[in-house]
Amino acid sequence: MVAAAPLDRIDWPVRTERLTLRTATPDDAEATWQFRTLESVNLWITRGTSTLEEYRTAFDDPSSLAKTLIVERERQVIGDLMLAVEDGWGQAEVADQARGVQADLGWVLNPDHAGRGYASEGVRALIRLCFEELRLRRVTASCFADNESSWRLMERVGMRRESYNVADSLHRSGRWLDSVTYALLSTEWSSAGC
Ligand SMILES: CC(C)(COP(=O)(O)OP(=O)(O)OC[C@H]1O[C@@H](n2cnc3c(N)ncnc32)[C@H](O)[C@@H]1OP(=O)(O)O)[C@@H](O)C(=O)NCCC(=O)NCCS
Repeated sequence: MVAAAPLDRIDWPVRTERLTLRTATPDDAEATWQFRTLESVNLWITRGTSTLEEYRTAFDDPSSLAKTLIVERERQVIGDLMLAVEDGWGQAEVADQARGVQADLGWVLNPDHAGRGYASEGVRALIRLCFEELRLRRVTASCFADNESSWRLMERVGMRRESYNVADSLHRSGRWLDSVTYALLSTEWSSAGC
């Protein structure tokens, strides 16, 4: 029997006070492309976008769709989130027990909707899904150190800085930039009541 993809184990859509989170479909390509091509967004995201067709090809890839969530506010797409379940590291004898126990998270918010706490609200829900629904033990996130909006978001939702890495990440400008990584354990999350 084939195991269900992690996001298929959640009952969608998930509603928060002001937002609706749901899994992405190929029809969401254009709406997300609209804000991902904006310079202030494109500067930081992993894959720079040029044409809608190129973007659509990458967006529609099953491995990409399987970890992408859409954030809606009043039925309008205002952002997207990534929830990528990963293996933890473990010594050979116990490596099986470390499979699929953690998730790497990501986020993009349409700048028209920034500064109102929507990203915090969506990411808090994402973390809750990781711990309560998927029963993961750890979530992680990383960004360029200069991307202050992103690491401040990590801190707002209770994530803990684990590393500051010097000149380890190549930006498409050609420069090697510093990066930061953050994490949160389920035990920290439940005891902090995040
Ligand atoms: C990272 C990103 C999602 C953060 O967005 P954001 O708008 O700063 O975050 P929020 O939506 O949580 O809003 C927080 C701000 O709203 C304010 N706010 C207003 N109402 C709020 C509420 N009800 N709850 C929480 N914050 C609220 C906060 O005080 C904060 O303001 P501040 O930045 O002046 O301190 C956004 O900058 C982005 O998409 N960047 C480009 C893509 C990117 O870099 N992605 C990550 C790649 S690693």
